[in-house]
Amino acid sequence: MGLSQNDDFLQSAELYDAIYHFKNYQRESEWLRNLIDRVVPGAHTLLDVGCGTGEHARFLKQHYSVDGIDLNNRYLEAARSKNPSGRYHCANMIGFALGSSYDVVTCLFSAIAYVKTIESAQRAILSMARHVRPGGALLVEPWFQPESWKPGMLSINTGESKDGLICRMALSRREDNLSVISLHYLHGTRQAVSYHTEQLELGLFTKDQMVHSFQQAGMQVTYEPEGLIGRGLYIGTR
Ligand SMILES: C[S@@+](CC[C@H](N)C(=O)[O-])C[C@H]1O[C@@H](n2cnc3c(N)ncnc32)[C@H](O)[C@@H]1O
Repeated sequence: MGLSQNDDFLQSAELYDAIYHFKNYQRESEWLRNLIDRVVPGAHTLLDVGCGTGEHARFLKQHYSVDGIDLNNRYLEAARSKNPSGRYHCANMIGFALGSSYDVVTCLFSAIAYVKTIESAQRAILSMARHVRPGGALLVEPWFQPESWKPGMLSINTGESKDGLICRMALSRREDNLSVISLHYLHGTRQAVSYHTEQLELGLFTKDQMVHSFQQAGMQVTYEPEGLIGRGLYIGTR
């Protein structure tokens, strides 16, 4: 039974890809490409912040030279194998400096909310904005706004790992401006079924706070309410 946040199973790229297999990264990447064509015509380079296991890069690499940063080394390893020509760095989005700028910087699937507080989100948006070349764009897919977060939401996902099956049940609650999600996993192989649990804490930021963060970073920003999967998208330009 694994119960700690450092649980090897919970850190694995294989678990991530198994649980989120329902996400259509190909369609999302096509949607992004159409948007980028409009906002930054001729874009060649893209930095994906909080890139996870590199699922977007798998498709975006056909059109852009894609690099990424993340905090999880095992996700970065998976991303490198999906996009061998990309440069991947283990870095914290709250204050990173790669010494290069990009036509487009993305931060997708609510990765921004992992920094928990609006002060940290502001610093992250400032760091991302500094990696956008003049005329380029910063695309941030947010998490829920405070008024839309419903405590007591219960959901279940299932997936397949290389050696078995995974089931994840999630129960949500709220603590001030944090959404807190208790995640409970069962991982079954032919030998045994193991139980793992973790708690995810994601910041709830208002639209005004996000818009202000882009403006503080010297960007003009528009908000697209639908975005890739209904969570909206902030489009910053400089
Ligand atoms: C929900 S996942 C999104 C991953 C990927 N963008 C996708 O669409 O599948 C959030 C990602 O943010 C990363 N992350 C969390 N906090 C971070 C931080 N402070 N700096 C960089 N990456 C971070 C996590 O390791 C995880 O890969």
